[in-house]
Amino acid sequence: MDSLLIKGGVPLHGDVTISGAKNAVLPIMAATLLTRERCIIRRVPNLSDVTFMGQILSSLGAEVKREENTLEVRAAKVKGMGDYELIRKMRGSICILGPLLARLHKARVSLPGGCVIGSRPIDLHLKGLEALGAKITIEAGYVVAQAKRLTGTDMFLGGRSGPTVLGTANIMMAATLAEGVTIIESAACEPEVVDLAKFLTAMGAKISGAGSPTITITGVSELHGAEHEVIPDRVEAATFAIAAAATGGEVTIHGVRPEHFHAVLDKLKESGVKIVRNGPALTVSKASRLKPVDITTLPYAGFPTDVQAQMMVLMVLTQGISIITERIFESRFMHVSELARLGADIAIEGPSAIVKGGRALSGAPVMASDLRASAALVIAGMVARGSTLVKRIYHLDRGYENIDEKLRKLGARIERVEET
Ligand code: EPZ
Repeated sequence: MDSLLIKGGVPLHGDVTISGAKNAVLPIMAATLLTRERCIIRRVPNLSDVTFMGQILSSLGAEVKREENTLEVRAAKVKGMGDYELIRKMRGSICILGPLLARLHKARVSLPGGCVIGSRPIDLHLKGLEALGAKITIEAGYVVAQAKRLTGTDMFLGGRSGPTVLGTANIMMAATLAEGVTIIESAACEPEVVDLAKFLTAMGAKISGAGSPTITITGVSELHGAEHEVIPDRVEAATFAIAAAATGGEVTIHGVRPEHFHAVLDKLKESGVKIVRNGPALTVSKASRLKPVDITTLPYAGFPTDVQAQMMVLMVLTQGISIITERIFESRFMHVSELARLGADIAIEGPSAIVKGGRALSGAPVMASDLRASAALVIAGMVARGSTLVKRIYHLDRGYENIDEKLRKLGARIERVEET
């Protein structure tokens, strides 16, 4: 198992290009199950989650070919049940449920387990599919779904912490082949949902309102193959922007869509970070004096929960107190105790972390617990005096394409080492 050994104290300088979005490509790969025809997806990031999803599609009978960042999928024949372990391992794979049910009128998909950031139930996914007419039972760790036909209807898909991203994706995909019109109220508005709707529309689906809380889908009898280029990863872009500011450097981020993460850019500006936009590129440079700001994670277009950990590192570097409140996932502060190993002073009060900035960080061995926590530890390691060893970076490889290589090109002293 690999770790990352980081020698801190080097300001990042130079240019970096953002990869395709993990959270857009996973549901788009699942959507290829809705047609027998060939689909071509471009700007596919080289991530372990993408590899897993490819293996899951193959286990369902689809032909999956990959050449660099282009994926070709042909699901000419598919079966309703895939590899239990593969599906259980990757939560994102739950979004094969809607397409399988729509295409085959039956599906047997392993129930995704909880994860370290929260219990992550799928009750809203099941509620939506039942509203379309599916009969759903949980048997032997599987979600078993079947329906003579799926019929369009109106539904409210909001939960205790607001809309669900993959739940909206699942229902939107199932409704494309349902009879009649489906209206999803309290739908997720994330750019990844809009990108999926764009791909489905290219396949012949009839969808309006994606990106707003009300999505309308008029069912069609079948969908055809399509080509699509995935949007850039706004979370990766935000991570590099924060890394530039935290290390006191200047980085130009290319191939980015700033309108997809305005809430993050707004908070960075509020904390004094300099951000200059030039066309599809953003230049982020250090603040003359970094100021503490308060953050509350919210559904899109609010501050994304997937950037909370990285932003916490930046707040550790301010001369003041900032309050970071996590409203989406109930236990997404696993990085706090690891940041404390590096010398940070953070107290947790219910859903909030009170960050007392101003203490210098010093390198130490730390453990990554999940994808975004690992990104935060890498940023902290690049700031801390001396060496930091970030263990279990398989979490990082799930969501960041060649991140250590990209950081080295920006001057970071970072290398992959075998974990002893
Ligand atoms: C997506 O997960 C992303 N994953 C997550 O990114 C991201 O953090 C999350 O959306 C929120 O933005 C992918 O797209 C693959 P949700 P998803 O359903 O769809 C509750 C990363 O780091 N809920 O929008 O699984 C749920 O527990 C990952 O890249 C229910 O109660 O998240 C949570 O509190 C981590 N019942 C809230 O809603 C349900 O049926 C939002 O979850 C579904 C969700």
